Amino acid sequence: MCGIVGYTGDELAKDILINGLKRLEYRGYDSAGVALEDATGGVTHIDVIRRVGKVAGLESELAGVDATATCGIGHTRWATHGRPSMANAHPHTSCDGRIAIVHNGIIENFAELREELAQRGHTFTSDTDTEVFAHLIEEAYYGRPAGVAAGTTAGAPAALGCHDLMAAVREACTHVVGAYGLAAVCADEPGVIAVARKDSPIVIGRGARGSYVASDVIALIDATRDVVVLEDGQFARLAPEGITYTDAEGTPIEPAVTHIDWDIDMAEKGGYPDFMLKEICEQPRVVRDTLVGRMTGGELTIDELGLSLEELNLIDRVYVIACGTSYHAGLIAKNLIEMWARIPCEVEAASEFRYRNPIITPSTLVVAVSQSGETADTLAAIRDARIKGAKVFGITNVVGSPVARESDGVIYTKANKEIAVASTKSFIGQVVSLTLLALLLAQVKYRLTVGQVRMLFRELGDTAEQIQWILDTQKDAIHEAALACKDAHSALFVGRGMGAAIANEGALKLKEISYLHAEAYAAGEMKHGPIALIDPGFPVIAIATKSPVYDKTVSNLKECEARGAKIVVVATEGDEDIAQIADHVIYIPPVRDAFSAITATVPLQLLAREVALMRGCDVDQPRNLAKSVTVE
Ligand code: F6R
Repeated sequence: MCGIVGYTGDELAKDILINGLKRLEYRGYDSAGVALEDATGGVTHIDVIRRVGKVAGLESELAGVDATATCGIGHTRWATHGRPSMANAHPHTSCDGRIAIVHNGIIENFAELREELAQRGHTFTSDTDTEVFAHLIEEAYYGRPAGVAAGTTAGAPAALGCHDLMAAVREACTHVVGAYGLAAVCADEPGVIAVARKDSPIVIGRGARGSYVASDVIALIDATRDVVVLEDGQFARLAPEGITYTDAEGTPIEPAVTHIDWDIDMAEKGGYPDFMLKEICEQPRVVRDTLVGRMTGGELTIDELGLSLEELNLIDRVYVIACGTSYHAGLIAKNLIEMWARIPCEVEAASEFRYRNPIITPSTLVVAVSQSGETADTLAAIRDARIKGAKVFGITNVVGSPVARESDGVIYTKANKEIAVASTKSFIGQVVSLTLLALLLAQVKYRLTVGQVRMLFRELGDTAEQIQWILDTQKDAIHEAALACKDAHSALFVGRGMGAAIANEGALKLKEISYLHAEAYAAGEMKHGPIALIDPGFPVIAIATKSPVYDKTVSNLKECEARGAKIVVVATEGDEDIAQIADHVIYIPPVRDAFSAITATVPLQLLAREVALMRGCDVDQPRNLAKSVTVE
C-alpha cells in the first residue's frame, strides 16, 4: 500500500509533505516524491521531485530546493506495477506537466486505457498503472484531441475540456476500473487539490493553517484530530480557504467528521494494538487484491508466468521450495496441484533442496515462495534449480526483490508491507496465488474445464467474506480457547488432508510468538507415537472442518479425549456434534475443502496471538527472529 499526503494553505508545503511521508514510512516504501506548485514571473508551474529509496533521500534533495510552494502532494511507493525506479515513482504528470497526481491502489484496466490514450497521442514515461490517471484527467481538463478512439474504426471527435480540476477528476474516474485513493493538482488552478476514493483509504482534515489529505490518519494527526474518512464514490476539493465534498455526480454532500483520539503509536497501527492484529484483519483485502485482474474475459490469466501455455502443458513435475510459513503455503499447494492438475508435486525446505540432488529436467517447474523475496536459502535454491535446467517461478510480496529478479516469472502477492515478524497476511496471499497457479496448471492440462475454473475462482473470492465473518464473530471463542492453552508447556496441532497442512502453520505461529512448544501431526499419526505425550489437560488443537476426512479426524480426536486432552477444534459453522468431544469450538463458515486453508488458518493466527499476549510476549517482535533472513 502506498502512502499519500497533500497540503494547501499558508505554510511551506514541502516541510508538511516530508513530515507526512516520514510518518508513513514505517511501512518501508521503495521510492518517494512530491509535486509542488511554484510560480515564476506570476505563472504557476509544477515541480516534481522524486527519489528512489527512503524519504530521507527525498528530504535531503528538497533541503537544497528553494521551494516557496504552499500547495503540493506527496507519495511514498510500495511497488505493484513496475519496479522501484525514478520513472515509476510518483507523482506522475500529464504530457505537458501541468497536472500531477499521486495514487494508491490498482487500476485493473490500465493496459486498455494506456493503449487508447497512446493512440490519441499521449506519451507515457513509466511502467505504472497510475500514469493513465494523469492523462485521463488531462483530457477531461484540457479537452481530447480528435483521433482514433479504441473500439472505433473511425476518428473520434475532439472533446472540449471542462477546465475544472474537480470535475476532470470525477470524469477520469468514470473510465477507471479498480481501486484508487487519488490526489491531483493542476498548475492552472493554483492552490486546489482534487481528491477521489474507491476501495483505497483517504482521510481529509482542516487545520488552523490549511487543508490536508492523506491515505492514513497518521500523516495529518499533528494538524487536526477531526477528520473526514472519505467513502467510496466521494470526492473532495481542497483549497486554502476550505474543503468541499461532492458525490460522483458533483452534488454537494456533507460527510461525517470523525474525532481521532489515538496516540501516534496507535495511529501507525491503524488503531489496532499491534501490527500482527492489523495484518490479520487485512486478510480479506489481501484475498481480493490478489485476485484482481486474474479473470479477464472469463479466462484465468497469469501473464507474469514467463512460460507459454505450451511450455506449461509440458510440465510433469513441480517442486515448491520455501522456508517457514512460506513452506507451509507450499504444503497447501501440493494438495491442490496434485488434486486438480494431477502433476506430482513435492514441497521442500529450501535449505535442504540445494544440498540434495533432486530430479530436475527441463519439464520441471520450481516454484519459489518467499514473502520478503530475499531469503538466502530460497535464493540459493533458485540458483541451483536454474543451473540444473528447471524453470523457476517466484511468488513473493516484494516487487523487484531478488526472488522476483532471479526467477523466470513471478506472481506478486498483494499483501503489501508486512511489519509483524510473524507472517500472517503474506501467507494468505501466498496460498491464494498458489491456488491460482494450481487452477491454471489444471486448465492447461485439460484436467479442469474453463467452466469449472471459473466456478472455483468465484468460490476462492468468497473466502474474503468468510475470513471477515471469522474476524467479526469468533473473538470470544478464540479468547476462551487461548485461556485453555496459555499455561501449557506444549501443544499438538492435528488434522488430516488439508487440515494436516494447516496444522503446521498453526503450530509455527504459536511457538514463534508465544514461545510455547507446539508440534503439528497428521491426526492419523498420533497413535504411532505422539499420543504418548497426552496427559490430562494437554492441549490438542484440531482442524476438523467438514471434509472427506472429517469422520476419521473425529475418531482420532476421540482417542485424545479418552486420555484427558483439552481439545480445541476449528470446525464448520453448524457442526453441533463436535461440541461433544471438544472443550472449545471455533467456527469457520462452510467452505470447499480446497480453500479451507485460507479460512481455517485465520483462527489459528488469532489463537497464537491471544496466547502470546496472555503470556506477556511481544507479538510483533518475537525474540531471536528477523523479518527477512538473509543468512544461510
Ligand atoms: C514465520 C515466518 C518465517 C518466514 C520464513 C521465510 O511467521 O515469517 O517462517 O516465513 O523466514 O521467509 P520468506 O517468506 O520471506 O522467505
